[in-house]
Amino acid sequence: MRSACASLREGGVSPRRLGLVPTMGALHDGHLSLVRACKQRCALTAVSIFINPTQFGLGEDLALYPRTFEEDCRQLEDEGVDLLFAPEAAEMFPAGSERSFVEVPGIGDRLDGLSRPGHFRGVATVVAKLFHIATPDVAFFGQKDAAQVAVLRAMVRDLNFPVEMAVCPTVRENDGLALSSRNRYLSSGERLEARALFASLREASLAVETGTSDAAALRRMLHQHLAQSPGVRVDYCETVDPETLLAVSDVANGALMAVAAWVGSTRLIDNLVLPPASQADGRAR
Ligand code: PAJ
Repeated sequence: MRSACASLREGGVSPRRLGLVPTMGALHDGHLSLVRACKQRCALTAVSIFINPTQFGLGEDLALYPRTFEEDCRQLEDEGVDLLFAPEAAEMFPAGSERSFVEVPGIGDRLDGLSRPGHFRGVATVVAKLFHIATPDVAFFGQKDAAQVAVLRAMVRDLNFPVEMAVCPTVRENDGLALSSRNRYLSSGERLEARALFASLREASLAVETGTSDAAALRRMLHQHLAQSPGVRVDYCETVDPETLLAVSDVANGALMAVAAWVGSTRLIDNLVLPPASQADGRAR
């Protein structure tokens, strides 16, 4: 993979910029928006598809995780991706290699890191490996996974990876539900209930636009909204600093408002970034 990247890069007069879009496959328009952003910014686009076993906890959905490799390849070809890297688990993690890992303590233990112990250690380790293997200039990630972005930004900074992080907006269904490979687990009834995640965030962000900045009040609002859907069980509703993921008590200086909830047996996440009140054209994104 590294030599394929090197030879593609050196095909032009000067070295061409390579972008990497790491994924676990089961591609949807959210993933494809990252591919399109990459194609706009970089001469070369590489995508990885690897269902990373080390970021799934015991009892999580590793065995069930959707695998749609042929369809993924077709979509990536249609998008004009230059390189696809889709290793086997045994290639990425040969026996014994698990002794070395990357951990971002603190940030990696908050939000999803608190609910899913070890999850971000698995994510940081595999992304570090992908960066070493593909040697991208830029790597593209979705705002949908805001805690993942915070962990990986910290890793890149702390360990001096020569990689620029590009973060792309969350792609949603018409009714607001954030696209996710896990949405396909939802029954039609659950699919309707899943709208509550984004609806709760919108309600709270409208309250911010009309002057509320008390984080505890916003968290209560999120909880109350989600509690109205009987099939939804809250994992967390938080208002945090987007970089450190530490709780904030007031959102006037901007904040990340994030929710995670179980809809039936499917865990979904979503978030909105609240801009500082001073930038008060102020729509949350
Ligand atoms: P995966 O869940 O497949 O997501 C791959 C990338 O697509 C992530 O950066 C994610 O934030 C982005 N993405 C997912 N849904 C999106 C949406 N609705 N809008 C915009 N972007 C979206 O995240 C992972 O895989 C893994 O943890 C990975 C980084 C590949 C490491 O294993």
